[in-house]
Amino acid sequence: MKTVVSGIRSTGNLHLGNYFGALRNFIKMQHENRCFFFIADYHSLTTHPDPALLHVNVKNVLSEYLGSGLDPEVATIYIQSDVPEVAELYLLLNMHTYVGELERTASFKEKIRKHPDNVNAGLLTYPVLMAADILLHRADYVPVGKDQEQHLEMTRRFARRFNNIYGVEYFPESMPYNFGQELVKVPGLDGSGKMGKSEGNGIFLIDSDADIRKKVMRAVTDEGPKEPNSPMSEPVQNIFTILKIVSSPDTVDYFTEKYNTCEIRYGDLKKQLAEDIIKTVAPIRERILEIRSDDAFLAKVVKDGKEKARASADKTVAEVREIMGFKPF
Ligand code: TYM
Repeated sequence: MKTVVSGIRSTGNLHLGNYFGALRNFIKMQHENRCFFFIADYHSLTTHPDPALLHVNVKNVLSEYLGSGLDPEVATIYIQSDVPEVAELYLLLNMHTYVGELERTASFKEKIRKHPDNVNAGLLTYPVLMAADILLHRADYVPVGKDQEQHLEMTRRFARRFNNIYGVEYFPESMPYNFGQELVKVPGLDGSGKMGKSEGNGIFLIDSDADIRKKVMRAVTDEGPKEPNSPMSEPVQNIFTILKIVSSPDTVDYFTEKYNTCEIRYGDLKKQLAEDIIKTVAPIRERILEIRSDDAFLAKVVKDGKEKARASADKTVAEVREIMGFKPF
């Protein structure tokens, strides 16, 4: 049996990128593997330290996990800050992590560029905490989107370094995973870049059918192909990328053909896309709304998840301490 670990930061509602990049793959794996899926609330503090929002964000993401089909009977679902062992492993891993390699991380450089006024040490060491999340359960697989590839590479480097320094084969090579295919990047609806929580370009699992239709109809396109078989502009490619994820191959073929023969009407393409997104999102949304108001159920999921996650984490941290030379008196 393989161990699978993944998580999502609690900085806002989950969108199609989170769902198709990470959550859906995890859900498919939950029955056959030893699975841990957590809410990265410590990580949210690197950019969103807001006491008024912290709890409500965690509650929303938890409801969204469960509404999407994560099953607390088979997978361990927990809140990162409920498992303080991760903070200890993070501290220990930091002792073998070089500031230079952290400064070169793409996500860190991007954060500095976007928020030069808040370059905190938590941001710099973000990949170490992420490695601690993964290594805490000694994960074989980590279902994530394309944007997390570099963090996973760093996790493997930290794991190898630990094994080398202490002459052990303790941490595994944790591999990024997408069910049977390449990692995905779900693009935004604004013509460039990936779909993100704070980019204003996303469709959220909690969006109403009307919101989804409105957002898709407003998505950026272009003036249409001028001649047959011309290459697609980035905004149109992005629409097709999402279509390939949510629609049937027949639908994709139909619109590709229309594009190639210059007969495409973007209005029709968008209408179809909106309906196919709604088919995925609407049932999830209904479950989220139901679950969100069931405080007793949420509390039980959190309590059970914490117990199971801590049992696994406690074992790892005890073994790491022993490997590093900590001894009881
Ligand atoms: P976060 O919260 O930004 O995103 C959560 C997951 O969603 C995926 N994702 C996407 N996939 C495809 N297309 C998109 N547009 C898109 N946007 C987001 C991300 O790849 C990710 O899988 N550092 C992580 C959270 C984290 C974590 C971990 C993940 C903390 N510790 C340990 C795995 C294991 C993050 O910020 O993801």
